[in-house]
Amino acid sequence: MELKIRTNENFSRVSESYLFSEIAKRVKARAEADPTAKIIRLGIGDVTLPLAPAVTEAMEAAVREMGVKETFRGYAPEYGYDFLREAISGHYRRLGLDVPASEIYASDGAKCDCGNAVDIFGDNEILIPDPVYPVYLDSNLMVGRRVTLLPTSEETGFLPTPDGLTGEGYIVYLCSPGNPTGAAFTKDGLRQWVDFAIRTGSLIIFDSAYEAFVTEDGVPRSVYEIEGARECAVEICSLSKSAGFTGTRCGWFVIPHGVRAGGVPLYKLWERRQATKFNGIPYVVQRGAEAALLPEGRRQSMENVAYYRKNAAVIAEALSKRGVFFTGGVNSPYVWMRCPRGLSSWEFFDLLLDRAAVVGTPGAGFGKCGEGYFRLTAFGSAEATEEAVGRLEKLL
Ligand code: MLT
Repeated sequence: MELKIRTNENFSRVSESYLFSEIAKRVKARAEADPTAKIIRLGIGDVTLPLAPAVTEAMEAAVREMGVKETFRGYAPEYGYDFLREAISGHYRRLGLDVPASEIYASDGAKCDCGNAVDIFGDNEILIPDPVYPVYLDSNLMVGRRVTLLPTSEETGFLPTPDGLTGEGYIVYLCSPGNPTGAAFTKDGLRQWVDFAIRTGSLIIFDSAYEAFVTEDGVPRSVYEIEGARECAVEICSLSKSAGFTGTRCGWFVIPHGVRAGGVPLYKLWERRQATKFNGIPYVVQRGAEAALLPEGRRQSMENVAYYRKNAAVIAEALSKRGVFFTGGVNSPYVWMRCPRGLSSWEFFDLLLDRAAVVGTPGAGFGKCGEGYFRLTAFGSAEATEEAVGRLEKLL
C-alpha cells in the first residue's frame, strides 16, 4: 500500500546510491562473473592491518571490567569519558596545541560528526570544494541547504582558495590532507582560509582525519596550528585511518568555546544535540581509543601508518615514472591520478576492474571536477599493492 505521509523531498537532490555502495555492487558483479579472478581492492579507504597490541590489550581489560559487578558501566557520558577526552587533549598537546578536554566531544567517527553537524546550523550558504568526500555535500543536500561548490583543478593542485568569494557568513568544509585528492594545505594556504573566515564571519569545518599521514614540514595536522582558528573553526578527526578504527569506530569533534554565532556558543548547541540524539560510544571502544592516543599505542599505530605510506610511495613512483599527473601519495594514503587516454573516470574504473581486476574509485564520484581522475588507496597489503601497480602499469 502507499502511505499518506510525505518523505523528505531533499533526498531527490542526492544521487540514488552512495558512491562506495555503487562500487561494491560493480565489484560483486565482477567477482560473480569470474570467481577465479584475484580482485585487488584499492577503492574505499578501508584499513587492512590489525589494531595495535596496546589497543586490543586495553579493550580486553575493559571487557573484563564489564563482566564484573563492581566495575561494570552502563550508559557512557554522551560527550565521552573524561579519560578519553583527556587523551585526545594530550594528543593535541604533543602536536604543540592547547585544546582543552572540555572542548572535545568523542563520537563514533568523523563521518557521523560530518553528517550530524548540520543539525546545529540554520540556512547558510555552504561552501564545499569539488572534488570532495561525498558526505559533506550529501548531508547538506539532505536537509535542503544551499550549497556552492568550489571548483579545483590540476592548475590549483586540487586545493580550494577563497579567491573571488565576496559574501559573508559562509560555512566552509575543508579536508587536509584531502580526500580524495591527497592534496594538503601548507600553513600559508590554510591561513588564507582562516583569515577569510575571520574577515567574513564564516565558520570552517576542518576534517583532519588523515593528519597521521603528514610527513612534510609546513603541512598542518590541525587547523589550530593557524593563528585565529580558535575563533572561527571546528575540527573533526578520527582514529579510523591513524589507528585502524574503521570498524571499531571512534572519532571526535573539537568546538572551541570561543566559537559563537548569534550570541550563542556553538558548543552549547552541539552539547544539546548530542544529549538528545547520542548515547555515547561503548566503554570498551573508548578504552581502546585512549590506548591508541597514549604514546605507546600511538607509536605502535604509527608503524601501520608507515607501512601504508610505503604503499602510497610505490603507487606514486610508478605514476611518476610513466609521467602520469597525480596529487597525494605524500602526506596522504590516497593517490589521485589523471585517467589515461582521456578516459572518463567510470570508463577507467570499468577497464581496470575488467582487465586488471583492480578496484579504485572513480573521481567523478567525488564531484564534477573529479571527472577524468581516479583515486587509489594505499591501505592494501604491500604485496597486493605491488601486484596492483604492475597490473595498472600495463593499462597506462
Ligand atoms: C573513503 O574511502 O573515502 C573513506 O574511507 C570513506 C570514509 O572514511 O567514510
